[in-house]
Amino acid sequence: MTQSAIESKTQSRGEIRPATADDITAIYNLTLPYVKDEILLPRSVEQITHDIDKTWVYIDDQNILRGTVTLVFFQPDLCEVRALVVDRDYRGYNIGRDLVKSLVDFILQNTTVRPMRLFALTYVPQFFVKSGFTLSNKEKFPEKIYEVCRFCARNTDCREIAVEMTIHES
Ligand SMILES: CC(C)(COP(=O)(O)OP(=O)(O)OC[C@H]1O[C@@H](n2cnc3c(N)ncnc32)[C@H](O)[C@@H]1OP(=O)(O)O)[C@@H](O)C(=O)NCCC(=O)NCCS
Repeated sequence: MTQSAIESKTQSRGEIRPATADDITAIYNLTLPYVKDEILLPRSVEQITHDIDKTWVYIDDQNILRGTVTLVFFQPDLCEVRALVVDRDYRGYNIGRDLVKSLVDFILQNTTVRPMRLFALTYVPQFFVKSGFTLSNKEKFPEKIYEVCRFCARNTDCREIAVEMTIHES
C-alpha cells in the first residue's frame, strides 16, 4: 500500500452496511490469507452464503470491501460474534472495533431480550477486551460447543479463548 493510500484511508472513512449476495466473493477472498496462515478456520462460499443475511461489511471510500463480521444467535438471549475479519493492510484503523460496535447497535435496536449475552471464541482476546468484552470461559457456551465446535477439525486442540459482553439496556 502506498503512503498516499494510507493517508486517504485515514482521512476519509468508509461505511458499515448489511452484506448482500454481491459481497460473497469478496468476503471469501478477504478471509483466504488468514485461512492460509491458519489464523482463521476455513469458511466455504456455502457457509458465507448461508450467513449472508446476518453479516455486515465495511466498505472503503473506493467501494472495496475491507472488513466483515457475522452475528449468530444460539438462543433468544445468546449470540456470537463470528467471522470477524479486517483486510491485513487496513488493520489498526478501528474497523474491527466499529464492526463489533455495529453488532451491539443492531442488538440494541432490534432485540428486546435483556440481558443479552454476546460472546466470541478467539485467538485475539485483547482486541475484544479493547472493544468492551471481558475474558470468559468456553464452558459457559455449551450451545456453541454442541452445535459447532464438535464438528471442527481442531475440536480436541482448540486454543481459542472465550470473551463475552452482557448487554443490559434496551
Ligand atoms: C482482530 C482484527 C479483527 C482487529 O481488527 P482491527 O481493525 O485491526 O482492530 P482495531 O483497529 O479496531 O483495534 C481496536 C483495538 O484493539 C487493538 N488490537 C487490534 N488487534 C489486536 C491484537 N491482535 N491483539 C491485541 N490488540 C489488538 C488495537 O490496538 C486497538 O486498541 P487501541 O484502542 O488501544 O488502539 C483483525 O486484526 C483481523 O482481522 N485479524 C485476523 C482475523 C481474526 O483473528 N479475527 C478475529 C476472529 S474471532
